[in-house]
Amino acid sequence: MNIAFNQVAVIGAGAMGRGIAQIAAQAGSHVFLYDTQAEASLKAKDAVYQVWDTLVVKGRLDAATVANYKSKLNTANSLQQLKHSELIVEAIVERLDIKKSLFAELENLVSDTTVLVTNTSSLSVTAIAASLQRPAQFAGYHFFNPVPLMKVVEVIAGLKTHPAVCLQLTEFAKQMGHTAVQAHDTPGFIVNHAGRGYGTEALRIVSEGVADFATIDRILKDQVGFKLGPFELFDLTALDVSHPVMESIYNQYYQEPRYRPSVITAQRLAGGVVGKKVGEGFYTYVDGKAVVPPEPAVPEVKEFPPVWVSPRASRRMELLQLLKDLGATLETGASPSPSALTLVAPLGFDVTTVAVVERLDPARTIGIDMLFDDAATKRRVLATNPATRSDMRDAAHALFAKDGKAVSVVRDSGGFITQRVVANIVNIAADMCQQGVCSPQDLDVAVTLGLGYPLGPLALGDKLGPTNVLEVLFNLQTVYGDPRYRPSPWLRRRGAIGLSLLHTED
Ligand code: NAI
Repeated sequence: MNIAFNQVAVIGAGAMGRGIAQIAAQAGSHVFLYDTQAEASLKAKDAVYQVWDTLVVKGRLDAATVANYKSKLNTANSLQQLKHSELIVEAIVERLDIKKSLFAELENLVSDTTVLVTNTSSLSVTAIAASLQRPAQFAGYHFFNPVPLMKVVEVIAGLKTHPAVCLQLTEFAKQMGHTAVQAHDTPGFIVNHAGRGYGTEALRIVSEGVADFATIDRILKDQVGFKLGPFELFDLTALDVSHPVMESIYNQYYQEPRYRPSVITAQRLAGGVVGKKVGEGFYTYVDGKAVVPPEPAVPEVKEFPPVWVSPRASRRMELLQLLKDLGATLETGASPSPSALTLVAPLGFDVTTVAVVERLDPARTIGIDMLFDDAATKRRVLATNPATRSDMRDAAHALFAKDGKAVSVVRDSGGFITQRVVANIVNIAADMCQQGVCSPQDLDVAVTLGLGYPLGPLALGDKLGPTNVLEVLFNLQTVYGDPRYRPSPWLRRRGAIGLSLLHTED
């Protein structure tokens, strides 16, 4: 195989550098690992050797392959030793001034054809390249932690990067067993930008007292299929990492409301309650395991009231069938009888507004989130309004739990929890397409591989129906009057044809 870069150097032998060195050596390149702390590069080399040895013990690699890998990975004691490199990957401390001076020094050392790349996750590639003599030979090459397992890399073109450099880096990514996605040099690139919708909206929901964080985690995992709830994720990443990222992207986009961080994480960070690594975050950790508050029990209800479903309920036919399957007595009149439990299933609107607009008795009105097909989710979410009677709330809770499916009852807010979070994720992704950060295809690939979402944001929008997502956003905007919910023009334009399809405009 013709390898894209035969001689590779990795500078910075921390968490990222060692992973990059490992996969480059596995691809067949001769790799030099350099760090200002000489012992750091030796330690990193030993750690990679150990990973390979373990894979031999597990029978995943044979001894000859590993001997070959080991022969490809060496440490360097000075930058001088790197001067014959064809590719130099920088993975040092995240400081613009330090990265710039390193690249200035390297440029004077290497040949004109050497490609220099940065693994920065938050600095501008263009800014790092600004004082270089050969900015065309410079790009971002953004890997994820742990590098050997996170099989995606963002290839980031700065303003002056030559397209051939991006092609070469893409080819090399493939040779290292990774999928390359192409991104323009914009704050957060693809993955860290697309990830803004999840945590920030969940924080906003908590701040409104709609539900506690454990309930929000349960709902988003069970309804959408996220592996980790937003608060579990915050605890794992730790707020000393994620809060500054939220602030940085928000500020780099000149206070774009869609990315607005929360005072909740600012305060928790200030108080040192940053996550799992300190034993205390949104959850408390005992022996490294989160203590999860128990779910409220399903109330015992002896006699169920008849149920009336609003004609405007979303997925009404499915909801009626579900109620039949649960053994409910359905009312078919134009309006509910005086004893009926009254169900609404709005998109974006709050239950109170719907009860008022549809002239329903709010004391008996309960909302259910029907954005997702009930059969495709593991949890049902009901919302009360401030006037809902407790017997009606308990009856609805017990009725929807009859078949054993989990039920959460939350407070009224525009758009339920899942609708808000999902609509934000789809909308931010759509806006990234509008801005030309990347192609719709690369966006979905980057997010599924980089964030582990069950579906790319655009495929998720298609599954739910782009017009349903738009309806959620329009109505959220009405409820909150907050520009963070304004739909991206791209989402509107794509509403009719789908979001993830390749289109002539792309
Ligand atoms: P780290 O702190 O684990 O390792 C950095 C290494 O660079 C240290 O060993 C340090 O001694 C060395 N170093 C610092 N200044 C140097 C210099 N001037 N010359 C040579 N070596 C130097 O950092 P980590 O986590 O590996 O991050 C490295 C880069 O990768 C940063 O730019 C970071 O933003 C980025 N990144 C980090 C990710 C992560 O999850 N840790 C994910 C993606 C990107």
